[in-house]
Amino acid sequence: MLEPRERLIVALDLSSVEQAEALIARLGDAIVFYKIGYQLGFAGGLALAERLAVAGKQVFVDMKLHDIGNTVAQGVRSIAKLGATFLTVHAYPQTMHAAVDARADTSLRILAVTVLTSYDDADLAAAGYDFTVPELVAERAAQARDIGIDGVVASAEEAAALRPIIGSGMMLVTPGIRPAGAAAGDQKRIMTPTAAIKAGADYLVVGRPIIAAADPRAAADAIVAEVERASPGS
Ligand code: C5P
Repeated sequence: MLEPRERLIVALDLSSVEQAEALIARLGDAIVFYKIGYQLGFAGGLALAERLAVAGKQVFVDMKLHDIGNTVAQGVRSIAKLGATFLTVHAYPQTMHAAVDARADTSLRILAVTVLTSYDDADLAAAGYDFTVPELVAERAAQARDIGIDGVVASAEEAAALRPIIGSGMMLVTPGIRPAGAAAGDQKRIMTPTAAIKAGADYLVVGRPIIAAADPRAAADAIVAEVERASPGS
């Protein structure tokens, strides 16, 4: 069983390592898991990921890899060497096979991104897909399971439908989390922390509601408290 605090992943969507380090210092022991994506990763954030891992934090490298298999595999090996805990790849079969083979028996876990949470049915149609969001999410989650992927990233709205597909062995990681009253931003499918946990999410990814808060530590503690209240047995 994960502790409530271990289930909150803070997205370090910031433009410099200096800003990220200042935020990490403010959050202190309130946060044990950080996510580094494009913005920070391409601005020195991968070295920060390695330092965080050495310092005992868990790191989610959200690079959403998708390329030919050999290139994906080499990228996965490099990320495993950083000491990261999670890495995302897009949920295309060839990419997922390459990532699972390359992570081998390292401690890196591969998460498949089913459909980005900023997408709705109209966005899928514009991209040439003849699927609704729930249909494509279910299809890709089943493929991820069959390939041996460790978990999926999906909106909390899909969590209840996904659990029967992925079973209890795969992790469900959900962005698009907004505490009641917080601004949605560009997220089209949002849920509160309570609703996401009750829907079966293992991990919540939260960016702007914490990193843009006047008091990030208080915002993080409030979400952890909400996770604790929503967890089974509490
Ligand atoms: O600020 P906000 O809480 O919306 O941040 C959500 C984070 O989760 C961002 O870093 C975004 O890139 C990421 N994410 C997402 N949807 C996915 C996968 C990752 O929003 N499917």
